[in-house]
Amino acid sequence: MKAVAEAPCKAIITGEHFVVHGAWALAAAVERRVRVEASEADEMAIESDGHRTNDSSKKRLAPIARVVTKISDELRFNPRVLIRITSRVPESSGLGSSAATMVAVASALTKLKGVELDASEISRYAMTGETAIHGRPSGIDVNVCATGGVILYKMGEEAKRVKFAGSRRFLIVQSGTKRSTRILIDRVSRMKVKYPGLFAGLANSASFISELAATRLVNGDMQELGRLLTYNHAVLSTVGASTPKLDRLVDLLLALGCYGAKLTGAGGGGSVFAIPREGSTDALIAELKLRGYESFQTNVPCEGVKSWLQ
Ligand code: PMV
Repeated sequence: MKAVAEAPCKAIITGEHFVVHGAWALAAAVERRVRVEASEADEMAIESDGHRTNDSSKKRLAPIARVVTKISDELRFNPRVLIRITSRVPESSGLGSSAATMVAVASALTKLKGVELDASEISRYAMTGETAIHGRPSGIDVNVCATGGVILYKMGEEAKRVKFAGSRRFLIVQSGTKRSTRILIDRVSRMKVKYPGLFAGLANSASFISELAATRLVNGDMQELGRLLTYNHAVLSTVGASTPKLDRLVDLLLALGCYGAKLTGAGGGGSVFAIPREGSTDALIAELKLRGYESFQTNVPCEGVKSWLQ
């Protein structure tokens, strides 16, 4: 018998980085999933991309082993399990592939052991692995991968679900440059030390933008939401999260008619999140491909982590 869990990845709509410093941010689960299978084994082992190891000190696997160990210790399980990971989420691209993996691991493992956890408990366990990778993440990624849908998130507070009728369409464009979230969090944090007053003002405005963006999303006012995104990109650029290539990609998307565009996640490369005009998405994806950019559309909201026995 094995347990299977699938967790969506995520896109931060507004407020990344500032969320690490106490601001509100808005995030959506994105329908590209990480699948994790958990089964009983002779030892703790992890298999990813066809490679299997039982060496939990290996850099890529240590965070996953941490999640397994934390859960096994607290819930008094035997940690001898095989964790098999298959991912459709590009890594180091701002889409929360590590968060989705940690959430799916926590969910599959507890399912295997017959324990039902709610989304906040799954997020808490997943954070053990996220912290090992990113240093001091805010927790927004694991929370939205666990709950699905759209959330307004602030550290230390319960996430607010943002609910609306129907769905909204977005475009995610890969810049093609991989980067480290940890390094970018540190870079932006240095701006806080250098310009504390300015940074506090920007963090405050990020909270306002996120709350406004949630309202525009609920009302389906995509044009106004787009303006908020583009403004948020400019702010993120000011604090060092963007790159000339990302700025050019945002400009290109606006020139191609998008209502708004911004980097999503830590920046420094990774992905851009854009709002296409109605009926323009297919042509936009084709045009971006001609210019060397991979992109895909995503409908929000989508379901959070789910698990079952097989
Ligand atoms: O690039 P990602 O998917 O790792 O997202 C990072 C988002 C940050 O706000 C920069 C960090 C965080 O933990 O909230």
